[in-house]
Formats: sequence, structure tokens, C-alpha cells
Amino acid sequence: MTKQLLTLRVNGETHTVAAEPHHTLLEVLREELGLTGTKHGCELGECGACTVLVDGMPVLSCLTLPTLLDERSEIVTVEGLARGPDLHPLQVAFAEEAAAQCGYCTPGILMAAKALLDRTTTPSREEMAQAIAGNLCRCTGYTAIYEAIDKAAERMR
Ligand code: FES
Ligand code: FES
Repeated sequence: MTKQLLTLRVNGETHTVAAEPHHTLLEVLREELGLTGTKHGCELGECGACTVLVDGMPVLSCLTLPTLLDERSEIVTVEGLARGPDLHPLQVAFAEEAAAQCGYCTPGILMAAKALLDRTTTPSREEMAQAIAGNLCRCTGYTAIYEAIDKAAERMR
């Protein structure tokens, strides 16, 4: 199949890539741009491991065709969370609270939590639960994840 030239804004930079038209955003991020922080999970929209932000909203990159995105859309992956050497408060809090064990779900959960904390830095436990409802974690039991989001929110106030 003929590759298609795509222009994508990812983590504040513009990239032009030649991609298979049927490839998902997840495939383009990982295979064309080398951004392997975003994880392949179920590829069925059920686990949330592939979550990235598009214009501030969490989206499942395994179900998103980049050919349908506006080339001005701002895509943020887990690699775009830190600002230079400064980790995002969520990354710091996840490390402090041991909210990542195997870590496979962590990039997706960080992005879903970032979207929440960009909206409010005083989220209730219910709002946190809703924000990460689409992100499966088989290791942590979620308690440490909620505590880490809480801690990051407090530091962002
Ligand atoms: S890999 Fe996208 S939801 Fe599971
Ligand atoms: S830390 Fe292993 S799946 Fe969440």
C-alpha cells in the first residue's frame, strides 16, 4: 500500500512522516517517531495502555487514525510530560508512592491523570476514578495510583 505523508504536532514539535494509511496513531508514534513510551496493550480500546492526549483530551491511540487528525492538533505522549530535566509532578509522585510496579499501564495512566489535573487540581476520589476508569492496572490495586494523583494535585495548586 502506498505510504501517505502526514504532518503531526507531537510534544511541541512538527514531524512529517510517511505512514501506511491504515496505521494507527499508536503505530505511527512508536514505529515512525520512536516514541515507545506509549504502550501496545489490547489494541481493542479496552486497556488504556495506549492513552495519549490530543488537544488536551485523552484518546486511545490504538483506535485513532492519524490521517483523520487535524495537522494542527497538539499530541502529547508520556515523553512530553517532563520539561527538560524537570519531571512532571505526576511522575515524581508516582515514583514516591510506588504507583508503578511493572509499569506497563503507567504511561497511559499518567496521561489520563494529566488531563484531569489540567482541568482541576482539587479532584475528588470519584473524579480520579472516572479519569482513569479506562486504564487497567493489574499490579497496584489502584490505591497507590490515587495517592500519587492526590499528591501531584496538591503540589500543582
Ligand atoms: S492498546 Fe489501546 S486500549 Fe488497549
Ligand atoms: S503497574 Fe503493572 S499493570 Fe499497572
